[in-house]
Amino acid sequence: MQFIAENLEDSTEKLSGMLAAEKARPQHAIDRYFYRSHLVYERELKHLIFRSWIYACHTSELPEINDFMLFDIGEESIIITRDSAGEICAFHNICRHRGARVCEKETGNRKTFVCPYHGWVYNTDGTLKAAREMHMRADFDPDEHSLIPIKTSVFMGLVFLNCDPKANDFSKLLENLREPLGAYDLEKAKVAHKHTYRIATNWKLVLENYLECYHCATSHRAYAKGHTLKDIYEKVEPVVRQMLENTEEITGIKGMGKAYERIYLDAEEFGACVYTSRYGLYDGYKTGSEDGKPVAPLMGSIKDYDGGTGDFQMGPLSFMLNYPDHCVLYRFIPRSLTSTDMELVWFVNEDACEGKDYDKEKLTWLWHHTSLEDEYIINRNSEGLNSRFFKPGPYHPEFEATLQKFVNWYLHTLESTLKL
Ligand code: FES
Ligand SMILES: [Fe+2]
Repeated sequence: MQFIAENLEDSTEKLSGMLAAEKARPQHAIDRYFYRSHLVYERELKHLIFRSWIYACHTSELPEINDFMLFDIGEESIIITRDSAGEICAFHNICRHRGARVCEKETGNRKTFVCPYHGWVYNTDGTLKAAREMHMRADFDPDEHSLIPIKTSVFMGLVFLNCDPKANDFSKLLENLREPLGAYDLEKAKVAHKHTYRIATNWKLVLENYLECYHCATSHRAYAKGHTLKDIYEKVEPVVRQMLENTEEITGIKGMGKAYERIYLDAEEFGACVYTSRYGLYDGYKTGSEDGKPVAPLMGSIKDYDGGTGDFQMGPLSFMLNYPDHCVLYRFIPRSLTSTDMELVWFVNEDACEGKDYDKEKLTWLWHHTSLEDEYIINRNSEGLNSRFFKPGPYHPEFEATLQKFVNWYLHTLESTLKL
């Protein structure tokens, strides 16, 4: 069933009242209003999504000078390029004349972007190269008409962007992940596969599902067999403790078991969440595959399988699950009030050869299978939550703790928009 989100009697006063009602009912799921209101969605984009650091791509996807790709967020289109100096840049895909999109092709290599409307020409660093016959206007300054730039930060081959011109460099904060993330040598990794799951519901329902593993035991039987996150910590503590005691020696990586958490309201800067921890796999499982057996060569400088997996968060919408032999990146992007892109990217060593060193089906099986299960339960969630009879229930104190942190940040950010 598709939901047409509508809220005919919406206003700032209504939003204010709904936020007050949430404050009076902490540690509970939030009202369906927040998933259906156009007024709320517009505020989310302006005050939350376009002020946050978001994973854009991997540097290996733009290997050559003048390579480019498009990335859509909401109704916005962004061009990411490797300019003539070899730098990664990002711009709004909006002509500085009368606003036409200057690039329609998803990926490619070109020296310039020529606007299809009146033919203004832009270099791959965004500067305006030519504006046909505009010399007739004495006050026209080409330097003032570059494509609108977007902030980028590159960390270990991962490219992040932020549409807030005031955002500080994200890579400084990501340094907190250097030891455990560096183990995988992502700079020398390649994208083995990526897939966008377009889910017909509000982005928060898709993200919220990722932020809790209360549903793992019931919805993800294959995942739950290998991963300790499906159980409360007290039950799995001996498995995790043993893995953490041995991880540095087995993997050969100092700091492999490091834990660090500055997310949502605790992030050092707005929209710049940074998180890592390493958790255990059950006996017999070496990696995130259907049977727990390795599916690719060991990544980076990792010497052996330690029975653990690295959990990372970079910004409010981007995450990584890093096994010794492959890494899986998750990114959640709103496309409209009732449509979300959930992007998965599978990384392996850059010199791993498909068909010889890894089989793409086997490599992607677990998280593709798990994502389809998620899509199914998210849609069921959306159907019930959108009902006029839905009453928000209590969160689980441990399993849904991270989800609560997101919701608190979300409500706090929305509330701050009322004072503007
Ligand atoms: S809108 Fe691009 S040249 Fe006119
Ligand atoms: Fe799930």
